[in-house]
Amino acid sequence: MENTSHADDRKRIVLTQETEEDQLYSLSLRPADVSEFVGQKDLVENLKLSIQAAKKRKEPLEHVLFSGPPGLGKTSLANIVAHEMGAHIVVTSGPAIDRAGDLVGILTSLEAGDVLFIDEIHRLSKVVEEFLYPAMEQFKIDFVVDKGPTAKTINFNLKPFTLIGATTRSGLLASPLRDRFGIYHHLEFYEPEDLAQILKSSAKKLSIDIDQEAAMEIARRSRGTPRITNRLLRRVRDYLQVKGEGDTITKDVAGRALEQLKVDIYGLDAADRRLIKLMYEHYEGGPVGIEALAATLNEESDTLIDVVEPYLLKIGFMKRTQRGRMLSDEAKKHIETTMLNV
Ligand SMILES: Nc1ncnc2c1ncn2[C@@H]1O[C@H](COP(=O)(O)OP(=O)(O)OP(=O)(O)O)[C@@H](O)[C@H]1O
Ligand SMILES: [Mg+2]
Repeated sequence: MENTSHADDRKRIVLTQETEEDQLYSLSLRPADVSEFVGQKDLVENLKLSIQAAKKRKEPLEHVLFSGPPGLGKTSLANIVAHEMGAHIVVTSGPAIDRAGDLVGILTSLEAGDVLFIDEIHRLSKVVEEFLYPAMEQFKIDFVVDKGPTAKTINFNLKPFTLIGATTRSGLLASPLRDRFGIYHHLEFYEPEDLAQILKSSAKKLSIDIDQEAAMEIARRSRGTPRITNRLLRRVRDYLQVKGEGDTITKDVAGRALEQLKVDIYGLDAADRRLIKLMYEHYEGGPVGIEALAATLNEESDTLIDVVEPYLLKIGFMKRTQRGRMLSDEAKKHIETTMLNV
């Protein structure tokens, strides 16, 4: 019983996907403008340049594609771009658009310079995707109404707009779609120093204090991911308030809270653990093909490649070799000391 609830906690806390609670806080904690967006320096510099140039030309920004693992700031950036362009943003997502017809209303209602944000753009159907091409290229759409002999095509001229697409799986995007984005940026995992800075500004917004050491402690266990950083901060805040230990998160408080939450020192999430454990227990640390791992975990291999594996590669827990994936000695040591009874 006890173990189950721990396992559930752990899942909830370090999962990179957005939870309902994250959504609740996303308005207050999301960076409001580019000055509040921490890290990703090269990306931000380039993006600022593109925005300034477009503004100077008095043109909408070229279409922008953001890719990268969940929780690194793609949605935040889309909102920031709209804000910096002084543009209105309309938000939708790949799975929400079933038929091309769903897009007609959205596209024809866009004003000049508006931003259309399509989250999870890799999940658009082929038909919808192809319908988007002329909209992106010539700001035109051809929409066929009715079928058979009564079918007719209606052409719409659209006002010039900016499409911003976000995807966790750039590898799954058809290249004709990818090629139609003039600006493409991949988000990288954050360094602990950047996450510590995010922690401090989030703490301020939540009206609590956090010292530098504590911020670094939480940052290191955030899986390089701001979404997890903010979630851990809220949990540590709960701990602080329940224990009644003042208004400042110190390293000691953070350490104890994180220990109680069973967040390990690498901040690995449930999916990471499953993968590492499987490689260790069933494949003796590899090498093993990603397809075999996906099949055993009952996961899509693309999810492993685009969502789970990148962080494990980054921290050196996993290596890609000609013969397949391998666990590093460090990963094996970690699993032997902490994860065998998980
Ligand atoms: N660079 C940043 N600076 C400050 N806060 C950030 C930054 N990036 C992300 N965040 C915080 O992390 C949260 C998650 O970011 P966001 O929703 O933009 O991620 P995402 O990449 O769109 O994730 P998903 O792929 O799940 O949609 C934001 O609400 C914000 O609070
Ligand atoms: Mg998002």
